[in-house]
Amino acid sequence: MTLKAALALSGFMFLELTSASFSGNLNYDSPSKRHDHLGIDIDVVSRRTLKRGSVPFLPSQLNFTHGVASGDPYPDSVILWTRIAPSDASDKSNTTVEGTVPLYSHETEKYIKADANPICAEWKVWEPRDKGTMVAEGTAYTTSDIDFTLKVEAKSLKPFTLYNYQFTVCGSGKSSPVGKTKTSPSVDDDTVKEIKMAVFSCSNYPGGHFNAMGNAARKDEHDFVIHLGDYIYEGGRQGKRPHNPPRTALTLWDYRTRHGQYRTDPDLLLLAQNSAWITTWDDHEVSDNGWRDGSSSMNNTEQSFRNYGFGVSVDQRKMNAVRAYFEWMPIRQVELDDNLRIWRSFKMGKLLDLVMLDTRNYDRSITGVGWNDAYIKEIHNDASRSLMGSRQENWFYRTLSESAKRGATWRIVGNQVLFSQFVDDGGGDSWGAYAANRNRTFQHLYDNKINNNVFLTGDTHRNWVSDLAWQGAKKYDPATGQGAVGVELAGTAISSSSPRRSLESSFIRGKHLIQANAQLQWQESYYRGYFLLSARKDKLDAKFYGTPSIATRNSWDLPLANFTVIAGENHLARPVAGGKVETGYLRSGKTVSTNVTLDTSAKTWKVVGIENMYFS
Ligand SMILES: *[C@@H]1O[C@H](CO)[C@@H](O)[C@H](O)[C@H]1NC(C)=O
Ligand SMILES: *[C@@H]1O[C@H](CO)[C@@H](O)[C@H](O)[C@H]1NC(C)=O
Ligand SMILES: *[C@@H]1O[C@H](CO)[C@@H](O)[C@H](O)[C@H]1NC(C)=O
Ligand SMILES: *[C@@H]1O[C@H](CO)[C@@H](O)[C@H](O)[C@H]1NC(C)=O
Ligand SMILES: *[C@@H]1O[C@H](CO)[C@@H](O)[C@H](O)[C@H]1NC(C)=O
Ligand SMILES: *[C@@H]1O[C@H](CO)[C@@H](O)[C@H](O)[C@H]1NC(C)=O
Repeated sequence: MTLKAALALSGFMFLELTSASFSGNLNYDSPSKRHDHLGIDIDVVSRRTLKRGSVPFLPSQLNFTHGVASGDPYPDSVILWTRIAPSDASDKSNTTVEGTVPLYSHETEKYIKADANPICAEWKVWEPRDKGTMVAEGTAYTTSDIDFTLKVEAKSLKPFTLYNYQFTVCGSGKSSPVGKTKTSPSVDDDTVKEIKMAVFSCSNYPGGHFNAMGNAARKDEHDFVIHLGDYIYEGGRQGKRPHNPPRTALTLWDYRTRHGQYRTDPDLLLLAQNSAWITTWDDHEVSDNGWRDGSSSMNNTEQSFRNYGFGVSVDQRKMNAVRAYFEWMPIRQVELDDNLRIWRSFKMGKLLDLVMLDTRNYDRSITGVGWNDAYIKEIHNDASRSLMGSRQENWFYRTLSESAKRGATWRIVGNQVLFSQFVDDGGGDSWGAYAANRNRTFQHLYDNKINNNVFLTGDTHRNWVSDLAWQGAKKYDPATGQGAVGVELAGTAISSSSPRRSLESSFIRGKHLIQANAQLQWQESYYRGYFLLSARKDKLDAKFYGTPSIATRNSWDLPLANFTVIAGENHLARPVAGGKVETGYLRSGKTVSTNVTLDTSAKTWKVVGIENMYFS
């Protein structure tokens, strides 16, 4: 093929590419538009394509390598994501030998391996019943600078509407899979009857298969997916599903490669392709037990990792992780001047506000990382301590007030770590180690009579369902729930492990915890899984599901327990869980193990005995 034919096929001439051509791909702005060296300078990218003028990739040289994804639904727009790459992409997006220096420098020569060839893609959005009419479309480019990822905002959409979308390499018939997504209801809509969300946390690739994600995708009952963090793990764990790269992630290339590996799990791909996701991160997207200035593996001083041959600072490592996260996740950056900000909120009609927090990486005061746990316990009740930093804290309280004022029925808070008060929780990885921040939150809710608050929590790899009660400050009756300001629904992991390896030990542990903690109503630590949340004007339902085994890829889905919250009551409806759960310990009620699971592929029920849950 001649160069001319190649150019014609790929649908553009390099000479026509200005920086405006690149601005349609939001990833060039991440993690910050205004700070040199943090975002990518698209003037330089476009000049480079002119200067080097090399032959563009042919469509046959390119692949959609990691499916499609969508997220952060607004009433009139949604984020669409894909990746289009040549076969040697991993090498081309390897920034420098160490991969730790800023990706971009004004001197073109410092793009050690950056590839001059831009890749062009067209994208289209349509309503499922009208495939012939495009309601939004556009053209965007990607390059090695952003690891060949492509993120666009589809605008001018209708509220609370299902859409299909697809990417195609310009001038070719090579297309991505067709994705499915949904916009949120318009802000003042009072007519939306129900919004359903599938809630996940802690997807550890070496820990086992992401069956929980596949089950939710196959059941397809939710409007949106929420992932509360620990979406990837940074460690170098091996085993049957070994991590890639095999070492702990430190460099930009490491985090990109790790994100790429997670986006090969077939159940993750299925759920990403078929729903709009709303995500936040926890520690493992960066580093275990992270806080503002460090983590378990790093003090705030340049740290050399054994056998790596180079050192990395806390800030540089965090920026590597954050850049890869923005590149690989269908998330909006709501404030391009603040490169660490992912806390944000979604107004979903008059039914609910979804408030997504970052209690981890943004501005968290020092946390327990192992060697300092006794110290953290000593200072856990200091007034100055914050999980969120003052900027996010103030925004959080203001957002809760505004939500109540605008008349939204529910305030749903997507959060990482356990909020509820547990005996002796001052030294742990929870709001208990930041008692003042928790008290300020309670105080704000009680003082302003803000009702119908629902905390969604991940992190612990166990299920915990509680009334939201401020013990020691406000009267609370565990029998009736009177005195609480809402509920906390904390869900188990998709595949990260729990120490309880039998139903019996989970029951005994649950009983012990419930007897010690008045607000706790159900506790369970055997199953991996997720929960489905349905919000209506009059009530909120939460259905918890377990995956009997993650040792194999399978479609077994076991209902564990169902909870209801009546609007205005501010506690779990009694009898809690209808007085009966499948597993774990229920404060007042029975545990009856039936093991009757739904096969989400065949949509038939069957009895499945419990198999080995884990690889190891
Ligand atoms: C694209 O994917 C196909 C199927 O996995 C593979 O055979 C082919 O080598 C890939 N091409 C490139 C350029 O990566
Ligand atoms: C990318 O660079 C890292 C060092 O930062 C190296 O370990 C890895 O092998 C490189 N990968 C490729 C595909 O060049
Ligand atoms: C961080 O510093 C403390 C106190 O000096 C030390 O005990 C700990 O081992 C250090 N951690 C790392 C990961 O170097
Ligand atoms: C937080 O409230 C608890 C009562 O629940 C109280 O014991 C504690 O001293 C308070 N701490 C701060 C810092 O306000
Ligand atoms: C929860 O409700 C579903 C129906 O939506 C039912 O199939 C399931 O058995 C219930 N689970 C429990 C533990 O009661
Ligand atoms: C349910 O699982 C438990 C634990 O493995 C087992 O003892 C019990 O027999 C199972 N029940 C059924 C009906 O399969």
